[in-house]
Amino acid sequence: MKIGVFDSGLGGLVITKAFVEHLPEYDYVYYGDTKNLPYGEKTSEQVLAYTIEAIKFLIKQNCGLIIIACNTATSIALRYLQQKFIPSYAPDVKVLGVVIPTVEEALEDNAKRIGILATQATVNSHIYQQELLKLNPNLDVFEIASPELVPAIENNDFATAYKFAEQYAKRFDNINSLILGCTHYPLIKTKLREVCKDGIKIVSQDELMGKKLADYLNRHIEIDICLSRNKEIKVLVSHNNDHYKEVAKSLFPNISIEEVLTDA
Ligand code: DGL
Repeated sequence: MKIGVFDSGLGGLVITKAFVEHLPEYDYVYYGDTKNLPYGEKTSEQVLAYTIEAIKFLIKQNCGLIIIACNTATSIALRYLQQKFIPSYAPDVKVLGVVIPTVEEALEDNAKRIGILATQATVNSHIYQQELLKLNPNLDVFEIASPELVPAIENNDFATAYKFAEQYAKRFDNINSLILGCTHYPLIKTKLREVCKDGIKIVSQDELMGKKLADYLNRHIEIDICLSRNKEIKVLVSHNNDHYKEVAKSLFPNISIEEVLTDA
């Protein structure tokens, strides 16, 4: 069985890269639902439907452990998938998200005031606020949606992404840590670090998910022993485009990207 990774687009590729760097011996299938992005602007029903389709697709690709490398899909679909869908559809498959590992990481430095920059749908779900406050009810949490960033990053319009990054950074002036609650934002993290006030720790998922997955596999030997180790990486998308190819090539130089139809 392989490790499946899913996102709407480029963000999940960055997280796949982090997994491969930490755990290079495993086999990975990355699926990006580029045809339907941005998820952050879709309804919960749409995101749930896209996510279920993607999970079914990755299961068909022989993935036994699937990481939803998308905060939006995690916030809307993960609980349903874990509690309802997977137990009847594929009880041996494990599906994980990105929110809990990120919250754990953000709390490691004893921050008291934490900002969240995320898609509109993730902010609407308040998943970060809820999970942070569960672990520390005394925190102050500030959530801001940044709907312009994913489309700008996907369209290779970094001038626009940087302009908005600067505007959002100004609104987080009194926090200790800023969680980048969208897997696309690691692609502009250098800019965000530059424009955020000195001393604010930027929690970026590409820097934490690799070690969190390694730690998970150490704690779940029963899953680890089922995973194949041939160093194969597949990158599949529902709609290919030149910018996507370019970024994918820069992250995985020897890999070709395949456009696929997910519906069976
Ligand atoms: N990268 C995804 C996330 O982490 C979402 C991007 C989108 O809006 O499609 O939320």
